[in-house]
Amino acid sequence: MCDSKSLEKKGLAEGYWSDEKIKEIFLDKQRRYLWNEDYWRNVFVPLLNLKQDSVILDVGCGLGFLGRKLAEYVPKGKVIGIDLDSKLIKAAKSTAVASESKYISDFCVSDAYKLPIDNESVDLSICQTLLMHVEKPLEVISEMQRVTKLGGKVVAIEPDYAGLSFFNTAYEALGFSLNDLAKMWYWEMVRALGKKKLGMGDDNIGSKVPYLFFKSGLRVVDVRCFDRVFWLIPPYQQKGNEFELQLLMLPPEFLAEKLNMRTYFFAGGGTEEKWREYFNTMKRVHEISKEQVEKMKFAAVVIQTVVITIGEKI
Ligand SMILES: C[S@@+](CC[C@H](N)C(=O)[O-])C[C@H]1O[C@@H](n2cnc3c(N)ncnc32)[C@H](O)[C@@H]1O
Repeated sequence: MCDSKSLEKKGLAEGYWSDEKIKEIFLDKQRRYLWNEDYWRNVFVPLLNLKQDSVILDVGCGLGFLGRKLAEYVPKGKVIGIDLDSKLIKAAKSTAVASESKYISDFCVSDAYKLPIDNESVDLSICQTLLMHVEKPLEVISEMQRVTKLGGKVVAIEPDYAGLSFFNTAYEALGFSLNDLAKMWYWEMVRALGKKKLGMGDDNIGSKVPYLFFKSGLRVVDVRCFDRVFWLIPPYQQKGNEFELQLLMLPPEFLAEKLNMRTYFFAGGGTEEKWREYFNTMKRVHEISKEQVEKMKFAAVVIQTVVITIGEKI
């Protein structure tokens, strides 16, 4: 089914996600704790109407976490994972083999804009944090719609950074003023605008997805938010805290360069002077939080809006 010929590289270059540190933090550790199990099992999965023999396509699958999680519901079906990054596909394939699960999987290198899949051949096309990284999300959604059977589901799980509560809770705990908070939020939006202008995607796409589904001809049947809250309260022994601490301890230099923050900020209209102010604030946050974590005093609750859009092919 998978044919990786004629790949056009778009958006973030191949290699971005397979960078060792990025992969470890964002595609592995974070994914392990991304979903609350009760929400996943009792709320999310039932919305997908999966049958034992359903065929699932995970678009922009990364290391394949989502597809693997869904596989147990389709023991007589199949999970196909596609991603532009060949190193991630290689890792996803070997994890699928190593997990010794009996599900049938097919991982392949492919572009979400040109899926190597027949029309109306899968029961569920799903993506998680993919649309936020592509230049033309509507085109990707249309491809997902094309390959989905009539009556089948197209699902997108995409965040909306504009609603990140981090700007309130953590910063307040660090003694930042309202002015600091407002500036940080504004600078983050400038960064997101720059990312979009450069064709690298839209970090605020979550709440726009339902309308894009409608535009692509899908019937929107449900829109939800996922219920995971990232919280860090001493003594930091909750499930997932190891990941949150690691994320918090990342030096701003790493974020600025590896996550292209600096490049995006300038592309969004930021100036050198504002960048220095933004970066120095991040440094201050980093230093104070590190000190507070060491003293077991740091506390933060980050509510990240992640919108789940469920569409039906009609
Ligand atoms: C943030 S990661 C999410 C990975 C996975 N869905 C998850 O939740 O763990 C985004 C993924 O989309 C892939 N990607 C970006 N643009 C793509 C495209 N045009 N076609 C296929 N995959 C793409 C990247 O290589 C990366 O693995």
